[in-house]
Amino acid sequence: MSVDRTIAPPQKPLVIADRLCKTFGGGRSLFGSAAPALKAVDNVSFEIFPGETLGLVGESGSGKSTTGRVLLQLEEPTSGDIIFKGQNLTGLSKSLLKPHRRDMQIIFQDPYSSLNPRMTVGEFVAEPLIVHGAVTNKSERNDRVAALFRKVGLDPSFMTRYPHEFSGGQRQRVCIARGIALDPAFIVADEPITALDVSIQAQIVNLFQDLQDELGLTYLFIAHDLSMIRYLCHRVAVMLRGRIVEIGPCEAIFENPQHPYTRALLSAIPVPDPKIERNRRPIAFDVNANPIPEAATLRTVGEGHLALLY
Ligand SMILES: Nc1ncnc2c1ncn2[C@@H]1O[C@H](COP(=O)(O)OP(=O)(O)OP(=O)(O)O)[C@@H](O)[C@H]1O
Ligand SMILES: [Mg+2]
Repeated sequence: MSVDRTIAPPQKPLVIADRLCKTFGGGRSLFGSAAPALKAVDNVSFEIFPGETLGLVGESGSGKSTTGRVLLQLEEPTSGDIIFKGQNLTGLSKSLLKPHRRDMQIIFQDPYSSLNPRMTVGEFVAEPLIVHGAVTNKSERNDRVAALFRKVGLDPSFMTRYPHEFSGGQRQRVCIARGIALDPAFIVADEPITALDVSIQAQIVNLFQDLQDELGLTYLFIAHDLSMIRYLCHRVAVMLRGRIVEIGPCEAIFENPQHPYTRALLSAIPVPDPKIERNRRPIAFDVNANPIPEAATLRTVGEGHLALLY
């Protein structure tokens, strides 16, 4: 099901993560004992080009969501820089950050907990338009929301309904409508299909792709399902214990993985051929037995393909 998603990288990246670090804990508690610091994001650097989808994969707790949240300035990095459209966002005041906030959005895994059960879905989609003063009156607001509903494949007559009246896939469409309401350039999609029925997942992935083609959106797409990543993404970054252990074009990562953890992840993908599937032996990779040396750095192993080799 892989399609050709290769694009020629334009000159300037839309987003640059430059040596990002995010540490949790490590301070002194009330009784003076030091809690060990956790490096959730450890020296992470990458670029995302306009119109590109960078996939971010890795085991639970590897730092994927934290990377996304730090990129969007929903959490401050402990160190490192985020350059968006050529401007360094790190350390900007709230008021200087506000225009960038509308340009960068996040879509979460669980559409139901993102929605407000007491708001109609139309009000939920309209909220960012009102907050950012993008509409001046009710009829303009309703027109904009109706257009957004159509764009994500929902009938505008659903605007007056409440979240519980929708299926999981429809709720995620509502969240996507809100995410694109302010015409953002960049969207972090944090496992947006993981909570959905398998039969619905492909529809939502196709919606992401259609919106990208139509609106020129740039995505950081966080996912567990590597086959979806291969279908949707131009490049993939593999995270382990807060580090990027491999990054490169989809083709290179899937056909020529270099880091043993990437190989282990790929070997866990089921194959839709019962004969091959019966003999498939997932490769194990134990990071505790093979810790990543602090000083290890990404090395070029192919065109645009880097891996942490030690
Ligand atoms: N606010 C926080 N306070 C303390 N620790 C945190 C906080 N947020 C995340 N962490 C820790 O940072 C590490 C990375 O978490 P993160 O949620 O980024 O991982 P993830 O790769 O998104 O995992 P998952 O696949 O389960 O969503 C985890 O060990 C997590 O427990
Ligand atoms: Mg996460």
